[in-house]
Parts: sequence; structure tokens; C-alpha cells
Amino acid sequence: MEDYIRIAGGKPLEGTVSIQGSKNAALPMMAASLLHKGVSVLKGCPRIADVFCMEEILRELGAVTWWEDHDLYMDCTNADKTEIPAAYTGKMRSSVILLAVMLSRNKKGCLGYPGGCVIGKRPIDLHLYALRQLGAKVEEGTELIMASCDSLRGKAIEFPKRSVGATQQAILAAVMASGETELLNCACEPEIKWLCRYLKTMGALIQGEGSSLIHITGVKELNGGCMKVPPDRIVAGTYICAAAITRGRLVLENPPEGELDAFLEVYRKMGGQYKGKSGKLIVNGNGIRYPVPFLKTEVYPGFPTDLQSPMMAVLTTIPGQSRIREQIFEARFKTAEELVRMGAHIRVEGREAVIDGGYPLQGCTVQAQELRGGAALVLAAMAAEGITCVEGYSYIRRGYEHICEDLSLCSS
Ligand code: UD1
Repeated sequence: MEDYIRIAGGKPLEGTVSIQGSKNAALPMMAASLLHKGVSVLKGCPRIADVFCMEEILRELGAVTWWEDHDLYMDCTNADKTEIPAAYTGKMRSSVILLAVMLSRNKKGCLGYPGGCVIGKRPIDLHLYALRQLGAKVEEGTELIMASCDSLRGKAIEFPKRSVGATQQAILAAVMASGETELLNCACEPEIKWLCRYLKTMGALIQGEGSSLIHITGVKELNGGCMKVPPDRIVAGTYICAAAITRGRLVLENPPEGELDAFLEVYRKMGGQYKGKSGKLIVNGNGIRYPVPFLKTEVYPGFPTDLQSPMMAVLTTIPGQSRIREQIFEARFKTAEELVRMGAHIRVEGREAVIDGGYPLQGCTVQAQELRGGAALVLAAMAAEGITCVEGYSYIRRGYEHICEDLSLCSS
């Protein structure tokens, strides 16, 4: 498949899109499935590159997997290998949470350093801290991370900083550890709640999911899991930005519920309208005209860092000055350079980007460098005059199942 997309912009979007299952919810659920020696199923799982990569890793460990339409079946009866080569883990950062499940299942695990989108330093110290607290011995080699334990033992752990991945790592290690685990200062992103709900379908004993304090009572065995993957809040937010940047109108089927409040508040202040109706979300970007004097990304329930680049693309089209402060990942302004190539006026000052909006965007060749930034370029292309070629489509396919089909159907 070609690694670029060509987009002819300039038309307001109008139509209906269905929101795919959430990438960031599905990946830890897939990892959790390894905690049962049998079949688990994720219904409505997105068919995207990152999910296929995690599926490949499960197979590498010995699982048998198959799809029935969008339902992913994972038979982990014999998934007892304990080493994941760097060739796999280098492709996807969230693979690091497999350390917890390998430890829980086989008392040892070894993997290459995790890769993923280049948006900042992305250390894994909090992941390893949690595992060590639960009784694992972890060695960080030059190429591999090796972990082992006699047994995992429940404990009270306070995270010095909120991390989605490290919270998931700790939960996955604690559900089958002996005794009680108390996790303090957990990340509260919805994907953690969904992971806990999935683990509960497997028989895990968890309280407080979705809050910063999670209590887990370890169990000896887990059953097979079965759950529908929730809608992807970041894909939904991206599509709302698509309506906003083209001043169009979209109906979102299968929208996330109550997970986009901070984002929608900003969208409303920009002049965007939305309403829920019969389980759908109708968004109208026709009235978008107000810049955003100051927007900062924050941990949930604040404005999500994953929607910062799509929102930046929208702000380039609104006359007046907007300012964004990126507080989660320090190198997440790379897309600004590409937007500037399209005619946007953006100045990056450390962790802040100042956008002087309203200058027309012109189609040209731009380079996606990471998933969400790539999606932002697709949006900018939809508002630009002429043809834009977005190179690096493979980054975008990591998280969006049918962005081209969805958005082109609504712009014809
Ligand atoms: C997850 C999401 C990603 C989202 C991010 C923040 C998945 C697969 N990815 O990433 O889309 O942008 O949450 O909402 O769910 N940190 C440390 N040490 C660690 C771990 C993290 O210092 O051991 C720092 C990071 O550098 C970052 C911050 O903590 O500054 C938040 O990162 P984290 O919440 O862990 O993000 P991810 O789980 O990697």
C-alpha cells in the first residue's frame, strides 16, 4: 500500500460517521487476555495497525488469534513464551505492559525497549517502579529489559506522577498477585476504567476504577474475558475537529459518553455547536470563529494531549491569536512545522505554541511524523486550497481504521 494520501480540500463536511472501537482501550485489554489460559474475546475491536501489532505479539508468545468481522478472539492457552523481541516492541510503546502479564503468568518476562510515536522522552521508570514494588526484580540491559519474581505480592504503591501506562502495568501485575494492592495517584483516563471492567468480566476483584485510588484483591485464577471495546474518544474528537475545520456538520454514531467534556467545552467556546440525540452526537462547525486565548493539555479529565494537534489545525483557520501549552509530552509540536509549510502562522516557544489564525492554508506535500499529528495534517488538508499530499500515512493507520473513507464520503 502507498504510504501517502492525497486530499482535495475546500468543502464543508456533511454526513454520518461511525466511531470505531478505542485503540487505547483495546491494547491493554488484549494484554489482559493473556492472564487467562483459554479464549477471550473483544467485540467491536478496531482493525488498525497497532491492534494488529499487539495481535502479532500475542501470537509470538504462543496465542492463537482470529477475527470474526470486528470481533477479536484470542486463545491464550499456550501463550507461555516469555520473550518479546525488540522487532515487535520497537513498533509500539504500549507493548511494555506485557511485562506485567508475563510475570504474572510465568514469573519472568523479557522484552526489547518499547517504541511508538516520537513525541517526547517517554521514559518507563514508573512502570518498572510499580513492578519492583510488587516484588519483581527488573534489570535494564542495553537492549532488553528483564524481569523475574518468585511471586508477585500486593502492596500499597503511590505513583509520584500520573501515568496511564504505568497505572495499567500495576493493575495487570496486581490482579493475580497475592493479597491486597492499593494504587494511589493513579491516572484516571477512561481507558483505565475500561481495562478494569474487562478484568472484572474475567473475575478480577477491583474497586475504585476511574478514580485516583484503586484497590485490588488478588485472585489465583482468571476466566476468559468478553467485552465490547468502547468508542474511541480521540477518533471522535478528531472527527469533530474535521467538522470544525471545514465549518461542516457531522453526525457521530457510537460516540463516547461523557469522555470528551473538556474538549467539547473548548469547541463550544470557539463557536462550535453540538447536541446528543438518540445515542448520536450531532456537531455543527458552521459558527466556528473565536480563537482560544489559552489552552493547556492536562491529564484526564482535562484537555487530552492526543487532541492537541488536531485542535491546532483548527485554530490556524480562526482569525485572531490562540495559544496552546503542551504539558504532557514535550516534543508534541512537530506538526506545527508542517502546518507552517501549508501557510499557517505558528510560533513555537518551548512548551507553548502561538497561532495567528486566519491565513489561508495551501495544499502542498507534508510529512506525518506521528499518529495524531498526522491526523491533524489530514484535517488541515481538508480546509486547504488545492491538493495536499500527506506522506507517512502508515502513522495515521496506527490509530484510524477508515479516516479516508469516512471523511471522503462526507465531503463528496
Ligand atoms: C497513553 C496513551 C497516549 C496518551 C497518553 C497521555 C496509550 C496506548 N497511549 O500513553 O495516547 O497520549 O496516555 O494521555 O494508551 N512518564 C514518565 N515515566 C513513565 C511513564 C510516563 O515520566 O514511566 C511520563 C511521560 O513521559 C509523560 C507522562 O508521564 O510525560 C504521561 O505519560 P503516560 O500517561 O504514561 O502516557 P502513555 O501511557 O505512554
